[in-house]
Amino acid sequence: MRKIIRKIMSTFLVAAMLVALSGCGRSEEADDPSREDEDSTIEIGMCFDSFVIERWQRDRDIFVQAAKDLGAEVNVQNANGDIEEQKKQIEYLIQKKVDAIVIVCIDSDSLADSVAHAKAAGIPVIAYDRMINNADLDLYISFDNEKVGTLMGESMIDAGLAGGKVIIIGGSPKDNNVSLVENGFTAVMEENGVEILDTTHCDGWRAELASEYVYGHTDLVEECDAIMCGNDSLAGQVVSALAVQMLAGKVLVTGQDADLEACQRIVEGTQLMTVYKPVETLARRAALCAVQLAKGESVTGYDVSGLSNGSYFVPYVRLEPVKVTRENMDEAVIGSGFHMKEDVYINVK
Ligand code: BGC
Repeated sequence: MRKIIRKIMSTFLVAAMLVALSGCGRSEEADDPSREDEDSTIEIGMCFDSFVIERWQRDRDIFVQAAKDLGAEVNVQNANGDIEEQKKQIEYLIQKKVDAIVIVCIDSDSLADSVAHAKAAGIPVIAYDRMINNADLDLYISFDNEKVGTLMGESMIDAGLAGGKVIIIGGSPKDNNVSLVENGFTAVMEENGVEILDTTHCDGWRAELASEYVYGHTDLVEECDAIMCGNDSLAGQVVSALAVQMLAGKVLVTGQDADLEACQRIVEGTQLMTVYKPVETLARRAALCAVQLAKGESVTGYDVSGLSNGSYFVPYVRLEPVKVTRENMDEAVIGSGFHMKEDVYINVK
């Protein structure tokens, strides 16, 4: 938007100077439509944590395409899990004077200053999927993460866990979503008299830490009835480690993201469930919101509620996650076009 206003002002000034100098009142530069298009194109900066987890590539591709359809370009940055790198990338986008910045943060508590710099430069900021705490955000768009945990818990109870024992292997403790998911999950465990034997976290969402935990805690693992995994990538490692101990399919395992391999494990019976989050909806809505904010418009067209991030009450677009078990796999994951039937059932005759 600032770029557009700057362009209008500079075009006006150039035209006025040429009128004054030549008296002809026309300027080739001001009239050249291709130059005008080039300079007024909205540019959105999008900062990712990393692309190690399957879903983020889909988020990126859909966001970039949706923005393109709305006439905007996206400058994609990948910090490879390094928070200092992510801060540098945000500063780079501020220097570049992009029209909006969309961030999948690595550490929810470390980007308030970076957001403040962007806001001081007049650039709107959206927290994508993960909240950035204590930051003056223009929007937070995500799925209801507490509900993700509730769905995991309810599935375990439906599968007979009430009164049993569970281990929690959560994701990065720096990701605000992780505590939200665990809050939703533990509430269901408490309501149903389930004992939480242990809770651990995988720094940086590193999945190998989940299997290391299983190998290093064989007594606890043999004692438990279920392992809640923060996402499907962790669940994959846990199921492999359980298989070595002949426990795959006997211990209830959850995840989230509806990764293809997780869906395969669900129909094969080694993972109880996953949570499908329609990232297509998330990415498309975020792209539309980013373009609206970049144009200086307010976000419209969706239910926007508010959520506190510690210091600010942030506009929040909340999307609904969907529980996926073997029973509704076809309808929820295949019917929605997220995965193809032949891929999900590839190992099942
Ligand atoms: C997201 C999950 C994702 C995880 C690891 C979380 O913030 O909500 O969908 O699997 O990050 O990237």
